[in-house]
Amino acid sequence: MKHVVVFTGAGISAESGIRTFRDSNGLWEEYRIEDVATPEAWQRNPAMVTTFYNERRKQVMEAKPNEAHLAISSLEEFFNVTVITQNVDDLHERAGSSKVLHLHGEIMKLRSIQDPSLIYKVKNWQVAHDAQNESGHQLRPHIVWFGEMVPKMDEAIYITKAADIFIIIGSSLEVYPAASLVEFAPTNAQKFLVDPHANDLQKTEDITVINKTAVQAVPALVKNLITSHV
Ligand code: APR
Repeated sequence: MKHVVVFTGAGISAESGIRTFRDSNGLWEEYRIEDVATPEAWQRNPAMVTTFYNERRKQVMEAKPNEAHLAISSLEEFFNVTVITQNVDDLHERAGSSKVLHLHGEIMKLRSIQDPSLIYKVKNWQVAHDAQNESGHQLRPHIVWFGEMVPKMDEAIYITKAADIFIIIGSSLEVYPAASLVEFAPTNAQKFLVDPHANDLQKTEDITVINKTAVQAVPALVKNLITSHV
């Protein structure tokens, strides 16, 4: 089976009602990254950081996967598919994708500050800023903040290097190291970029650009891939 690697950003969840970061009206127009998405912000004001992620979690829990998430999961019938996402939402999983690697963490999880291997699923959108586990460890959002390492990057590169087809959907490609992933796709892999602002983005030369929204473009792209490769 051919390997399809789908690399997604906030744009794929936009049509599910989840705000992106850098579009007009994006989250980073309303909030300062250094106030809510850095380890220093957490140390300074955990209540503010927690409120920010509680609001994001509420939005995610109210959202449903859209036609683009669903089309990607349908590829699994014909291809070996890995989704590498920068998104912290769980819409790929809820759409049925079975291999999803979250480069920037997961909003539906918390983890121990004392022992990062202790990770807990959250059931409600609201969590307390001083939440603890049963051993009294303090819990923090399971999110990769600005200034932190991206622990899954090596695994993402390894998977990307084996791609026959590499599809980027809805990312401004501004945040590194995630944005560098496309450089690791083999030169002979077929590459696609789906984004309504694709023409403004930096990209490699051998990429097919689809200047449309995820819901407009991805179901048709998936159909074409199935027809041409299966
Ligand atoms: N369909 C497809 N793409 C869309 C849509 C849509 N309906 N709407 C917007 N987009 C595109 C925008 O044109 C933009 O290029 O999605 C992209 C969103 O870019 P960002 O907001 O920068 O999101 P992303 O690239 O995922 O951000 C990377 O930055 O702050 C962080 O950690 C956060 O993982 C995130 C990282």
